[in-house]
Amino acid sequence: MKTTASIEELRGFLKASQGESALVPTMGYLHSGHMKLVEQAKRQADVCIVSIFVNPLQFGPDEDFDEYPRDLKRDLALCEAHGVDFVFHPDVDEMYPEAPEVNLGLKHMSSVLDGISRPGHFEGVITVVNKLFNIIRPDYAVFGEKDRQQLMIVKRLVQDFNHDLEIIGVETERERDGLAKSSRNVNLTMSEREEAPSIHAALTHGRQLIEAGHVSTEDVIREVTDFIETRISGKVDSIDIYSYPDLKEVVKIKEDIVIFAAVKFSKARLIDNMLVKNN
Ligand code: PAJ
Repeated sequence: MKTTASIEELRGFLKASQGESALVPTMGYLHSGHMKLVEQAKRQADVCIVSIFVNPLQFGPDEDFDEYPRDLKRDLALCEAHGVDFVFHPDVDEMYPEAPEVNLGLKHMSSVLDGISRPGHFEGVITVVNKLFNIIRPDYAVFGEKDRQQLMIVKRLVQDFNHDLEIIGVETERERDGLAKSSRNVNLTMSEREEAPSIHAALTHGRQLIEAGHVSTEDVIREVTDFIETRISGKVDSIDIYSYPDLKEVVKIKEDIVIFAAVKFSKARLIDNMLVKNN
């Protein structure tokens, strides 16, 4: 496995490599969820590249950029053990030698969900993802369904900007109790950790309600919110239902939808979602 923090050196590695390549963009502090993406990348292509970069552009001023967990040594060992070919771990100056003059913007897709609660977040995500695609020029890029809004937006980035690559989505990896694996889970207290699986349980409850014939978005949202609020000390930030895949508002559930949950604990805001097929 070769590792570098330099764009130029990475390009040299890639030039000398052969076959199709797949990129797994991450912010590090890797866990088995990320590794599921790596496994998919390896099935898909000959060369697997992992990028590790905590992207300041996608964190708001009151968010956890400084507290975001980092452990490059451990990440590299994990990548090595999983047969990753190249790890690109630039520092902020390498990625942003100057404040960018040209910004990428979003319309509808950042006007809902985390786009509202985290202003500028998705613009920061697509800016760094766009740069990574241009630096690495992979044939495939692998993203998790855990961050479904991000996955849907990145697909539009590729479509709208003619990136010559295919986006692959991978199912959410969970703890045995249902909690979605996340680098932020380490910021939960012990009692919060015990409560957190109720997010997935509530989404499953919501899906069961819809499958049992409930069609009112408002009712399902209320049921899911109550389910979580009676089981956690944290606060439900938002429960939303939007159409899949275009994230449009839904009043009566007759089509494929996604239930999105965001829950605030004392030092971590956790997100999860569930796709409910209705066709
Ligand atoms: P990060 O949170 O490190 O996640 C990197 C990738 O791993 C994302 O595609 C995310 O959806 C996926 N992932 C995280 N937890 C997962 C789980 N439990 N199961 C399956 N996949 C999971 O998302 C980002 O970084 C950044 O926004 C990034 C795209 C790297 C841009 O900075």
